[in-house]
Amino acid sequence: MDEQKLNRTIAIFGCGEVGATLAYTLVLNPICNEVILVDPKTDLLEAQVRDLNDATFRGNNGTRVRAGTPRDAAQADIIVITAGAKQKPGESRLSLLSRNLNILRTIFSAMQPINPHAIALLVANPVDILTYFARKLSGLPESQVLGTGTTLDSARLRGVLAQRAEVAPNSIDAYVLGEHGDSQFIAWSSITIGTTPLEQALPEGHFTPNFKQEIAEHTRGAAAAIIASKGCTAYGIGNIAASICKYILYDVRCVRPLSYYQPDLECCLSMPAVIGRKGIVRAMPMRLDEGERRELEACAGHLRGVIDGVEM
Ligand code: LAC
Repeated sequence: MDEQKLNRTIAIFGCGEVGATLAYTLVLNPICNEVILVDPKTDLLEAQVRDLNDATFRGNNGTRVRAGTPRDAAQADIIVITAGAKQKPGESRLSLLSRNLNILRTIFSAMQPINPHAIALLVANPVDILTYFARKLSGLPESQVLGTGTTLDSARLRGVLAQRAEVAPNSIDAYVLGEHGDSQFIAWSSITIGTTPLEQALPEGHFTPNFKQEIAEHTRGAAAAIIASKGCTAYGIGNIAASICKYILYDVRCVRPLSYYQPDLECCLSMPAVIGRKGIVRAMPMRLDEGERRELEACAGHLRGVIDGVEM
């Protein structure tokens, strides 16, 4: 095992589809020596732990999975929250709010006191609102509480643009910003393929309002389309959460559109940030055109409205 991996622990609340997929990804791509799963469904929890440990034996990779209590989880380097109700087909992420906020309250009160150096990574939905309240409930410094946000939406965007432009997704810089939900928007003005602005990189005449609308709808509706057929999404978000854990543990300092507190907008939503061992190392300022700025403000207004409707 390499040295940095020693004594690294990632705790995951919730061992349903998303939590188990994240744990499995951490087993296959080992970055820590211990994964602690926490879930009140003890039969499921024990079964997931056994099954996941079976997957560690092949490569003897040194990552062990165990069941733990909230107090065990509170001492981890990263505390990932996947626990909560999931969307039913046709349901919006926001409709999960009251159920998942109650679960969040229970989790954070059962964990106190929390390792003051821990990073809380919110994955459950509605992720932006839960990230906002997790700041208060955890008592952790603001920079140590973040949500997966539109990192997954941005990956989906790069995927669809890669098909259209016939280039590899990782040669595209493209961000979906704002809410991980219906008010998200694409920062079209800054998309580049290599260093070439998208409009010039696409074949002549391709970059039309219809093209933009089609891609935006595809990206916004991607999760709903998967949920309609299989009842959940898991592999995409499990993978994104695992890569964020790696950026944190190894202080990678990648720029990603994570959900974190925006003081000027008074809510959590996704904007690019540098991510490392201390969580949000710093915001990475981004130039938005006038239309995008309006979309950002509308998105923030919408999220603030939801936050104001919550009784703590
Ligand atoms: C999705 C879930 C994580 O977008 O909201 O797949």
